[in-house]
Amino acid sequence: MKVIIRQTKAEASVWAARYIASKINEKAAQTDKPFVLGLPTGSTPIDTYQELIRMNKAGEVSFKNVITFNMDEYVGIAEDHPESYHSFMYNNLFNHIDIPRENIHILNGNAADLKKECADYEKAILAAGGIDLFLGGVGEDGHIAFNEPFSSLKSRTRVVTLTQDTIEVNSRFFGGDTSLVPKQAMSVGVGTVCDSKEVLILSFSEKKARATQAAIEGPMTHVITLSALQMHENGIVVLDEGAASLLSEENKAYFKAVEEAEA
Ligand code: GLP
Repeated sequence: MKVIIRQTKAEASVWAARYIASKINEKAAQTDKPFVLGLPTGSTPIDTYQELIRMNKAGEVSFKNVITFNMDEYVGIAEDHPESYHSFMYNNLFNHIDIPRENIHILNGNAADLKKECADYEKAILAAGGIDLFLGGVGEDGHIAFNEPFSSLKSRTRVVTLTQDTIEVNSRFFGGDTSLVPKQAMSVGVGTVCDSKEVLILSFSEKKARATQAAIEGPMTHVITLSALQMHENGIVVLDEGAASLLSEENKAYFKAVEEAEA
């Protein structure tokens, strides 16, 4: 696992956006095949999306040949609800870049057959050639996508039941009212994320420090699903100082040395 630490969320986000753009451009220079990008919602990726939008407008990266798959969506929330992950993605990224609409995939939380919707999503990822890079955030309890503690580290796309902790944390988007937060969601699995050629996880602020420390310095465990990244050959975690605050000084120095040596 590579660990990149920057002082602020803003600097870390710019690093992540430029990394993603460089990967898109690298593939475009080699082949006509689309770049397949996995994407998260949440407050964490917003600055990264803003930098990608800026780069797109400046002609530094194009999304014309990019196919996206979002990580998750609430079950039973209207697609045009302001807090649906559909709304989030269009408002924060897709409406501002040159991606063709037909290249965008987001799980349908209102599908008549949710199981089939999940199975079809996995098939669509395979049909697109697999995910080149999955960008993700992390929950305060260490979950990736909506893979709550005790999710199988081999899990695939499925319907999940949110923990009370996640419902409380996410209630800030629903006027602080936990009763308005959907209790279930659909989510790619830990296995789905880890099958990607590369995984880039962003973790910002002290609220994420405990989970981040456990996932990086602790053992791999289904209690902290981010820790599954330890088994990935191309896993990168990008942190600001807050999220890195519980890592040992020795490890932080080593991560910095690795970054400098490989620059
Ligand atoms: C939700 C999403 C995750 C996201 C997490 C953290 O649980 N399903 O994909 O990583 O929230 O959100 P935030 O970035 O707002 O801290």
